[in-house]
Amino acid sequence: MKMLLKDKWVLITGASSGFGAAAARAFGVEGAKLLLGARRVDRLEKVAAEARKAGAAEAYFHKLDVTNTPSVKAFIVWAKSKIQNPGCQTPGPTCLHVLINNAGGAHGQDSVAEGKDADWETMLQTNVLGVLRVTRAALPLMPHDAGASIINIGSVAGHTAYEGGAVYCAAKAGELQITRALRLELLGTGIRVGTVDPGLAETEFSLVRFKGDAAGAKEVYAGTHPLTAEDIAEILVWIARRPSHVNIDELIVKPVDQAAVGKVFRRTKT
Ligand SMILES: NC(=O)c1ccc[n+]([C@@H]2O[C@H](COP(=O)([O-])OP(=O)(O)OC[C@H]3O[C@@H](n4cnc5c(N)ncnc54)[C@H](OP(=O)(O)O)[C@@H]3O)[C@@H](O)[C@H]2O)c1
Repeated sequence: MKMLLKDKWVLITGASSGFGAAAARAFGVEGAKLLLGARRVDRLEKVAAEARKAGAAEAYFHKLDVTNTPSVKAFIVWAKSKIQNPGCQTPGPTCLHVLINNAGGAHGQDSVAEGKDADWETMLQTNVLGVLRVTRAALPLMPHDAGASIINIGSVAGHTAYEGGAVYCAAKAGELQITRALRLELLGTGIRVGTVDPGLAETEFSLVRFKGDAAGAKEVYAGTHPLTAEDIAEILVWIARRPSHVNIDELIVKPVDQAAVGKVFRRTKT
């Protein structure tokens, strides 16, 4: 039987833009109850309102910096207080149904020879340690044998190295191995664990990677048809809605125009 998401608690990190914001709206359509985290609270407020408008039973937001353990702990204390409110269908602390570890991204495109410490540290802090911190803190809120899901957002970069991507590729390869280890560690609990690994998708990802260079970021998608945030959000909902005995372990999704990392079909030159 397919899992229904109505009134189920769904926690999304990096919900202020891109995949995370689209996921908030998509789980909202399912009538889920949302707990949204990111650093830009003004953006979260807007996303929560959109999710409520889409149909979310409830949508709350709180500041979260996944690079900082006290911030993650404070976020989970807040999440627990929301889950335990009288509106919760399953009283008690153990009813977080879906955890989406989405916060992350790439910073810079330098070769290893020219790499910057700050970029390296941010990529490893968010994409690797952030996933670990949030998962460790959220696990006690997740029920056993109830078809709960942990869905991590990886990348094709975790499967294939490319020039200028050493640390982002390493970070997403780390996310992939964390997902695999967690899958083994949670065997027997009923908690599903998987990773969704997208290719080229048009979000704020490139703007962040290019440190605010909007023209450079736009160029990444010139003449091609990338994935949208909504494409990924739809897949996340689909995974969470599988029958409780089904685990989607690893899912690579690329636009038709991207046959491999660095092999992208472009209709026009700009
Ligand atoms: N777009 C792509 O082509 C692509 C492909 C494969 C994988 N991915 C992965 O998909 C995920 C989402 O990226 P996106 O494409 O949706 O890019 P995006 O639009 O830039 O979204 C990134 C999200 O991560 C949040 N975030 C970044 N650092 C954070 C921190 N320290 N603490 C909490 N939240 C943080 C951002 O929120 P704040 O800035 O408000 O904190 C934002 O909500 C990332 O893990 C990325 O690596 C993207």
